[in-house]
Amino acid sequence: MLDKINKDKLPRHIAIIMDGNGRWATKRMLPRIMGHKAGIDSLREIVRACSDLGIEIITVYAFSTENWNRPSEEVSFLMKLLVEYMRREIGELHKNNVRIKILGELEPLTTVTKNEINDAIEMTRANTGLQFNIALNYGSRAELVRACKLIAGDILNEKISPDEIDEELFSNYLYTTKDADPDLIIRTSGEQRLSNFLLWQCAYSEFVFPDKLWPDFGKDDLISAIYEYQNRDRRFGTVK
Ligand code: IPE
Ligand code: IPE
Ligand code: MG
Repeated sequence: MLDKINKDKLPRHIAIIMDGNGRWATKRMLPRIMGHKAGIDSLREIVRACSDLGIEIITVYAFSTENWNRPSEEVSFLMKLLVEYMRREIGELHKNNVRIKILGELEPLTTVTKNEINDAIEMTRANTGLQFNIALNYGSRAELVRACKLIAGDILNEKISPDEIDEELFSNYLYTTKDADPDLIIRTSGEQRLSNFLLWQCAYSEFVFPDKLWPDFGKDDLISAIYEYQNRDRRFGTVK
């Protein structure tokens, strides 16, 4: 499979909606949290694969602003898993020159979670390899509203004037700041919706919707998605 893809035409930025953990567990008569646990193995494999392939940015949707509405035990398990993942993986990520960035509002998280995440960001700040964006307590609408508030504040402080607002300036107020827009967005589990993910950034992204549930998704599936992406005709509104 790896030989099928063109290494010179890789997507710069791949974004993934890691969906289907709950269904994976339910199919096995396990509690939903076991699906999240299994999903961590996929995450590890996919981040490694992106790093090995030389992808510039990977963004994963880990927890949405709407996911707070799940049972509190599931929410706390997800947060605990994230802390464990960071503790276990940070050494290897750092060694592989990966830079960690968070998209989302960290304030409502517990101190333990915030500290773990901030340590990981600090430790990997100067790394120049794969940029690993984790969308955590992320919602695209909240991100857009936040950007508007920040811009309004900077206008009030006379740091910018309203005439200066253009698409580039606006983008810089989003969590993704200067990141290239995602070229490829993958959502596993067969669902075909965005669920409040990267609404601004996905304007010209290519979408791939594999049926596999996230814990079953591995490196070969990533390669297949990249292959599908490479066979799309991206026109960006123009004619050839
Ligand atoms: C994705 O799997 C993980 C998170 C949303 C955190 P789900 O938990 O949404 O799994 P399904 O969609 O219920 O199968
Ligand atoms: C989107 O999945 C959020 C994450 C994968 C973190 P959901 O499972 O929460 O989305 P819906 O509810 O199916 O739209
Ligand atoms: Mg889901």
